[in-house]
Amino acid sequence: MQQAGGKRQSIAMQSITCADLIHVSKIVILESCCIVSYYPDRQMQSCFIYPLLCVLLGLQAVTVRGLLRTMADTDREKWDSRYVANLGGAEPSTILTDYWNLASCGNALDIACGNGRNSLFLAKMGFMVDAVDISTVATNYLAGSDPKINVICQDIDDWTIPRNRYQLIVNIRFLDRRLFPLIKDGLRPGGVLIFESFIDKKKNEYCLKQNELLHAFQSLHIVYYEEKKSDCSEKFDETVALVAIKKGL
Ligand SMILES: C[S@@+](CC[C@H](N)C(=O)[O-])C[C@H]1O[C@@H](n2cnc3c(N)ncnc32)[C@H](O)[C@@H]1O
Repeated sequence: MQQAGGKRQSIAMQSITCADLIHVSKIVILESCCIVSYYPDRQMQSCFIYPLLCVLLGLQAVTVRGLLRTMADTDREKWDSRYVANLGGAEPSTILTDYWNLASCGNALDIACGNGRNSLFLAKMGFMVDAVDISTVATNYLAGSDPKINVICQDIDDWTIPRNRYQLIVNIRFLDRRLFPLIKDGLRPGGVLIFESFIDKKKNEYCLKQNELLHAFQSLHIVYYEEKKSDCSEKFDETVALVAIKKGL
């Protein structure tokens, strides 16, 4: 089993990585310009000011890295404690059992695989599965359960989906919009995407908007798309499901 590296994924995280990094860089550049122009003497600059700037830069880099790492850890801890309390059911998702056989047998990717219910189903159907999830508890549980499953304990944000590799990509009950183009690239021509997530107007950050998934994957051949009211056990208003095939075969 591969071990996880760095930071966490989520919409909140993405705004910190981009916005905060740009903000911190601007402050550092501004500070540098101020300090350098305040001490115009060249000897003073090279003996004192430049080393000071290096220390400042280093400290700020360490602070940002620390912030990212803490948030990754927080995300992992959140999911780990959920899985310690309840690992979840073993039944594979219905959208998967209904549509998996559109894909020719080969490599499959299970994004945010959780306890591996979908990976285990695909391995039984003969696929070689890359199963990625941030939770140590969930991936430890899954590791070693089937030789066809390659369990990767990893923040998906730090993992690059290999291009042109998968006959089937499964993304069930997870949302990371950053992955949309990577998922399309990861599919082989004729490869199948099975995607299920949620729509909720009040939780836009974590949920899809109506038709958003349809538009995001419109370059593929959409075989099935449905938005429907979630049953009362769900936290979100609606469930959305999409099955699509990459053109080109
Ligand atoms: C609602 S569960 C869905 C699990 C699985 N797909 C299923 O249908 O049973 C969401 C999963 O996303 C995983 N997750 C959350 N953030 C992640 C991240 N940044 N990278 C990888 N996995 C993540 C969690 O650990 C959790 O297992």
